[in-house]
Amino acid sequence: MTITGRTIVTGILGYPVEQTRSPAMHNAAFENLGLDYCYLPFPVHPERLGPAVEGLRALGIRGVNVTVPHKETVIPFLDDLSVEARFIGAVNTIVNADGKLTGYNTDGRGFMRSVSERGIDLSGKNVLVAGAGGAARAVSYYLSEKASGLSIYNRSKERLRGLVSDLSRIRRNVTGIERINDLTGFDIIINATSLGLKEDDPLPLDPDLLGKKQVVCDLIYKKTAFLIEAEKRGCQTIDGLDMLLYQGTLAFELWTGRTPPVEVMKKALYEGVSR
Ligand SMILES: NC(=O)c1ccc[n+]([C@@H]2O[C@H](COP(=O)([O-])OP(=O)(O)OC[C@H]3O[C@@H](n4cnc5c(N)ncnc54)[C@H](OP(=O)(O)O)[C@@H]3O)[C@@H](O)[C@H]2O)c1
Repeated sequence: MTITGRTIVTGILGYPVEQTRSPAMHNAAFENLGLDYCYLPFPVHPERLGPAVEGLRALGIRGVNVTVPHKETVIPFLDDLSVEARFIGAVNTIVNADGKLTGYNTDGRGFMRSVSERGIDLSGKNVLVAGAGGAARAVSYYLSEKASGLSIYNRSKERLRGLVSDLSRIRRNVTGIERINDLTGFDIIINATSLGLKEDDPLPLDPDLLGKKQVVCDLIYKKTAFLIEAEKRGCQTIDGLDMLLYQGTLAFELWTGRTPPVEVMKKALYEGVSR
């Protein structure tokens, strides 16, 4: 990659950002299409988030991804939000159009694409989401549009009720579940909690409650213990790596207006990731 006086800069704001695979994925795509763009990591301490966002304007940075811990706290610094980012209350992509900063959330659509690419049709399906944080809100917003029924379960009842009440304002097929005794009534079960990130985390749901013909997804970017247990019981499983890929391809499209080279981005993302 050659940086020129005209190179357009994109990147990622997070803290920390050392582990991110997004620079590899986006820079491979820019190179593949011969675009004079680059993607850089920006470690931004939470106390410096405001000046960092102002810096996007001052430096003419075309756009950034936003990751932990800034996805929600970045919102007050932006000029506008897309409909889905406003509902979700979290932003993972910012576009800078001549100094106007708009926040988007491509996580939910990224997840939906990771499912549809496996040939899974959500229409008529009964879906369970475990979790009510930012990622659960993002996927639930789109799942409730496509599936016939969406049930949501979460440890914190207050957060659960908040999400169910927000969704119920726009959809009629959403139910909050406060206790899980059976999972066999669901076609698709999704772990959208952070349980499974650490090796010694408990499982988000009891795998002994699963049936054999279910699809079990985890938004975490690896084959979690929950997915391993689901596979042992005969379920089809999907991890969060393709969601990461497709949220990235959607951000790429927002910044460049070009069709992303998905296979190139996938190869760059998957390299160095153990699954
Ligand atoms: N694949 C992708 O592209 C992608 C994109 C975004 C996020 N993710 C993944 O999605 C996961 C959730 O992210 P997030 O942004 O939604 O985080 P978040 O807003 O902090 O929400 C965390 C969720 O996990 C639950 N949780 C945490 N610890 C728990 C415990 N000990 N027992 C039961 N529930 C627990 C929380 O429940 P309470 O409400 O009870 O605290 C909440 O529902 C992360 O693992 C992240 O890596 C993946």
